[in-house]
Parts: sequence; C-alpha cells; structure tokens
Amino acid sequence: MQEVATRGAVPASLPRASRIVIVGLGLIGGSLAAALRKAGVGQGDDSLILACDPDPKELECGRRMGLIDAGSTQLSEVIEGATLVVLAVPVLAMGQVMGELGALRGRAAGDLVITDVGSTKAAIEAAAIEAFGELPARFVLGHPIAGSEKSGVAAANPELYQAHKVILTPTCATDPDALERVRALWQLTGAEVLEMDVARHDQVLARTSHLPHLLAFSLVDTLARQDERLEIFRYAAGGFRDFTRIAGSDPVMWRDIFQANRGAVLEALDDFESGLARLRDAVNRGDGDGLLATFDRASHARHYFDTLLNQTSYQAEYQMQESAMLRYRVAPGGSVTGRIRVPGDKSISHRSIMLGALSEGVTEVSGFLEGEDSLATLQAFREMGVAIEGPHQGRVTIHGVGMHGLKKPAGPLYVGNAGTAMRLFAGLLAGQAFDTELTGDTSLTRRPMGRVADPLRQMGAVIDTAEGGRPPLRIKGGQALKGIHYDMPMASAQVKSCLLLAGMFAEGETRVREPAPTRDHTERMLNGFGYAVEREGDTCWLQGGGKLAAGPIDVPSDISSATFFLVAAAITPGSDLVLEHVGINPTRIGVINILTAMGADLRLENEREVGGEPVADLHIRYRPLKGIDIPEDQVPLAIDEFPALFIAAANAEGTTRLRGAEELRVKESDRLQSMADGMSVLGIDNTLYDDGIDIVGKGGDGANYGGGRVDSHEDHRIAMAFTIAALRASSPIEVNDCANVATSFPGFVELARGVGLELEEVREEQA
Ligand code: S3P
Repeated sequence: MQEVATRGAVPASLPRASRIVIVGLGLIGGSLAAALRKAGVGQGDDSLILACDPDPKELECGRRMGLIDAGSTQLSEVIEGATLVVLAVPVLAMGQVMGELGALRGRAAGDLVITDVGSTKAAIEAAAIEAFGELPARFVLGHPIAGSEKSGVAAANPELYQAHKVILTPTCATDPDALERVRALWQLTGAEVLEMDVARHDQVLARTSHLPHLLAFSLVDTLARQDERLEIFRYAAGGFRDFTRIAGSDPVMWRDIFQANRGAVLEALDDFESGLARLRDAVNRGDGDGLLATFDRASHARHYFDTLLNQTSYQAEYQMQESAMLRYRVAPGGSVTGRIRVPGDKSISHRSIMLGALSEGVTEVSGFLEGEDSLATLQAFREMGVAIEGPHQGRVTIHGVGMHGLKKPAGPLYVGNAGTAMRLFAGLLAGQAFDTELTGDTSLTRRPMGRVADPLRQMGAVIDTAEGGRPPLRIKGGQALKGIHYDMPMASAQVKSCLLLAGMFAEGETRVREPAPTRDHTERMLNGFGYAVEREGDTCWLQGGGKLAAGPIDVPSDISSATFFLVAAAITPGSDLVLEHVGINPTRIGVINILTAMGADLRLENEREVGGEPVADLHIRYRPLKGIDIPEDQVPLAIDEFPALFIAAANAEGTTRLRGAEELRVKESDRLQSMADGMSVLGIDNTLYDDGIDIVGKGGDGANYGGGRVDSHEDHRIAMAFTIAALRASSPIEVNDCANVATSFPGFVELARGVGLELEEVREEQA
C-alpha cells in the first residue's frame, strides 16, 4: 500500500456529544487529552474526555490539570456510552485491555470506534484478533510518531502532536466512517495523518525509531559498566549527550516494543551491523577514502534530513513550491551598470561530477555551480558511494572510483529539475552492474526521455519508462552494451552525451551524428581526462573500454546565466556592464552572434583558455537594437537563451523571426508558449508558430510595453527573462513561481539588485 497523506482532507471535527475514553493516562494518552481540550473538545459540545488507568494518582493528576472530566481504575466504570476508545497502554498490555474491552463492548455506544497508539502494529493487530475473534471493522490501528524521554501524565503536552505524523494502518475491511473519526481525532491535535500497511509501518519504525533507541540504550549501558564511568561521564559533552538523550526513555515501554517488533528490528540490526563492520574494517585498515565516503554521505543525508524537517531548502524547497509560491515584483525602468561574475556553467558542472566520479584519482573542481540541479547530481553520486568534499565556495573535490567502482544506491536517484542529469545519467547507468531508478520533479516528469531510452535500447540497455517515454526511468543493470552508429533526429547535446557515456561501457565503437552542432563539453572533458573522442564533420565517436584519469576543472561562468544581464544591458539606455570569466565555447555563443546581428554594442575582452574551455569578459553597452531573422544554424547554439532573446526582440525596432526551434517546446516548460503567453499579458505583439515565433518590437528609448502579472510555468529561464523585461516596461511586472531560479542561478536576485534592478521577492501561500 502506498503512503497517503490525508492532512486536511476532511475538516477536523468529532461528532457532538462524543464520549472519548483514553485507556492509559501517561505521556501519550495525557497529551492527547490535552491537545483535544485545547481544540475545544468537551467545551460546549456536550463531549466528555474520560480516562482509565491502574494508577489513581495519575487520574487525579489528569483531572487537576483539567485534561479529563472523570476517570477510574476500572474500565467498566467509564465504558458506558463510549463512542471512541483510545488504547494508550504499553504494547504488551494491549492484549489484556482488549480482552476486557471485548467483554464490555456491549455497554459502549452502538457505533463505538476503537483505536490505539502502539509503536508496533503487527503484534497489536494479532492481539486484537485474539481478543475479538477478528479485527473489528471499527478498530483503526494507529501510531502517533511523537514522544519524549519523559513519562507520566504530569509531562502531558498539548503541542506534542502538532505538525507530527500519525500513521494509521487500516485494512480493506476497515469501516470508512471509523477511519474518518480517527483521522479527525488526530487532525484536531494538529498532526499530519498518513496511511500505510501494518508490515511497512513496522519496518519503517524498526529503522527510524527502534534501532536508534536500542543503540542509545546499549551505548550508555556499555559505558556505565566500565570502571572509570564517573570519569567518562564527566567529560561526556555534546556528542554523547545528543546521541544518548533517548536512552532516558521508559524501559517498560521499550522492552515491550522490542519483544513485539522482533522480526523487523532484527532485520534493521543486521543491516546496521554490516555497516558497522565495514566501518570497523576501514578504521582497521586506515582506509581514509572509505571512511570519508561513508561520513560524507551520512553528513549530507543528515543535512538534507534537517532541511526536510525544517522545510527550508533543496528537495524540501521543491515540495514547498506546491504550497508556497515565490513571486518576483520588479519595478519598471532603471539602467544596468557594474562588473559582475555570474555562477558557474551548469552543463560543465554536471559533467565535472560525472567524469570526476568515474575517474581514477582525485578531481579538483573550482567554479562549480552550487545550484539545485548540479547539487542533485552531486548527491546522486554520493548515494552511489563516491566520496565528494564540498561544495565550498565553488570548490569540489571528487575522489574518483574508476569506471567500475560505483555502488548500487539504496533507493531511486532524484535529479530534481535537471533534464541534463537525467539524460546523461541514463547513459552512464545503462552500463552499470546494478539496477537504478531515476526520478525528478514534476516539470522533469513531463519531459521526453524516449530520445535517450530508444538509442540506449539499440545498444542493448534495458530501460523502462512511464507512459509516453516519460520519467521515472528504471534501468536494469548487468547488460552487455554494444556500440552503435546513431543518426540523431534532433540536435541535442544531452542525447549525444548520453550515448558517448554509455559508449564508454560498450563493446566497440559508438558514433553519433548530429544534424547541427551542439555543445561539445562532454567531448572536451573526456579528451581532457585522457579518454579519446574523435570528430570528423558532424560525427563524433569513441571506443568502449577505456579509462579516465582525474584532472583539475575550472568551470567558467555560465553564458546562459550571463545572457539575462547581457540582454538587460543591451535594451536599457544608459547601461554599461562587464560580465567576467564567461565561457565562450563556440557551440554556446549563439546569443553573442544574435545580439551582435541585432546591433548590440558587445565586446569580448581578455579572451583566454581555461582548462580546455575558452573564456572572456563580456562588455556590453546600450545601443538601439533592430529586429532580425534569426539564422536557423544559430538555434542549437543559443537554445537556452531564447527566453531572454525574445525580450531583446520586444525592445528592438521591427520584427524578429525565429523558426526551426521546436525543441523549445520540450524544455523545462514549453518555452515558445510560456513566452508568448507572458508577452501577450504585457502587450507585446507576437505570433506563435509550431517551431518558432514572430515578435514585433517598437524600438526607441522609452517604455515599450505595459506591466502585469506573468506566469513562469515554474521555468527558471522564463522567470528571469520576464524579470529583466521590467527595465523597459511602463509599470511593474510580477512573475509567478520563481523558486526554480535556484536550479541554475543561485544569487540571481542579489546580482540583479546589485546592477540596478529594483526587485522584491514575495512569498505567499497558495490557495
Ligand atoms: C544541455 C543541453 C541542452 C540545453 C540544456 C543543457 C547539456 O539540451 O538546453 O539546458 O548540458 O547538454 P538539449 O541537448 O536537449 O538541447
């Protein structure tokens, strides 16, 4: 069964005049009572909260705290007319309580619902079947994932369940009305309610809760038995304290849990023991790389886990976009001046990690793009056992594992928004010995992957896609690949690179012919790492079975990111801007050629070569632009730059015509449509074609169009293009859904403000 989040699916309310009986008034039961009270239960709705506990002092304490209306040590005295019984006793006491409940059930309300809070579910399900003869349809097993090392009702906390998860484990026989009531009960406490099946619940909890408790108990016990324990505890500061806090938990409760969830705990413990044995061995052998790989992976997983818990960034950021929208509000007018350096090239950053990981030796990368996309690639390699240090201020150190050193990742590899990562990974992973699955965000899930899956299958790869050749991709390992000669139907560097990467693992020669030149970073970097890639005209090829030798990589600034500022300066009177250290690889300079053809005052200064890639400082000053017919051979060379170039066209005098650009329809959004829609909102005259667009610009020095709110379609480049458009608008432009700018251009907002744009970020909850 899938985990299903049902938070907010129904308004949280219980029927009027509910009689809720909490059996076991400790921390968990008491906190439930406190949270229900806080939500208004029993205050003017004729409901009562009652409790049953063997300890009269606990009941008295609960009453004095105002948590319960009445209580008894005997279930028989509180069961009369009960509509909801919550079993909150230790796991091994459940059977006995259920036996009593079975005998008294006739005195409760006819529609009585039973639920429990036990930390293991299979044992409680078995106890219920024993007590009632079967699992009653109105018994909904549940488990709030919250607690504290404190115990007893005195420690009850009305906030204990706030924003915590509660797992319910209904079966197909569970009565839907009973399920709704238990869901409402927990929603009233502020919890997020999830559903999963019993077995999965027990496995998940064995790993995330039971195992860590066992380790904490064991560590404290081991140290406490040692003679010098006083000495040790005196010096035991942060690490010991953080790691062992949960060893102060209720021993009876935990004894019960380990007895009840024996099988799943033993499995988790076996996995842990083998991990520990591997670390022991690495310590013993002085294997620094092995230790670093594990620690690094764990450290990043822990940080990632932290951001998930705090809902701040990375994958959590993507999830946040579902509920919180980031909007840019850009004031009209202004001019663009200064000297800036935009972040590192995305294409080269992805490739540096991929080839560095497969190399022999250590690869030092500088200028690495610390954007969400390339960070996702980096994390994916960590998950395949590669030790990677950083990134820190653009510096990354990759401890290569060689062509056959990757390890099977524990789960699917998530590549976020990055089409490049998914397509290049497809080639690289098709040649591995293990199975993998590649997933991404919602935008990536819509993008075509058949263009790489089909030729890879011709090479002998076994790849499953979702309907229509979309992600996720499931790649079967252990296939013998054969080189092919492939005539690419579209000009795509991603497809070419995918096949070259697969070709390294294939027998014989892999040849790719491209219908038009596309970016050649893969070929350059492979050659730089000593893996020969040859080229003649429109075809490049390599032989399988070679090796990569690590070397330093200096990533130039991304011309695709620089483009937004090139266009900003090109269209704005009074502008004078220098963009430093920009990559000007001949397969990427379509934007320079097109802007120059439109009349831009753009100069390349300080041209040099860095690590096999040409770079220059780009100096641009305002000069009026004119509309042109964009030569089709420039399309692949400027493929990511069109959203910004359309804004240049909207400010040029006359019509700019683009054709042969149907690839724009399958980028992070349908970029022809997204731009046409947004330009129409602003009043920019445009006509859309299947493979292009005509844009009519007014020219001149004043405002060329109005303002308004446009949609980025969660596409980073659409968002940035409309941001710079504001420089020539007559009123403010607002751009919806800008969070994905972080995929390629971290720091965009600060840089834009620095050169003169007036840009405000607005975060708001979506309805
Ligand atoms: C890229 C190639 C281009 C480009 C993308 C990055 C690469 O895609 O649009 O942003 O790094 O190889 P296609 O190869 O699909 O045209």
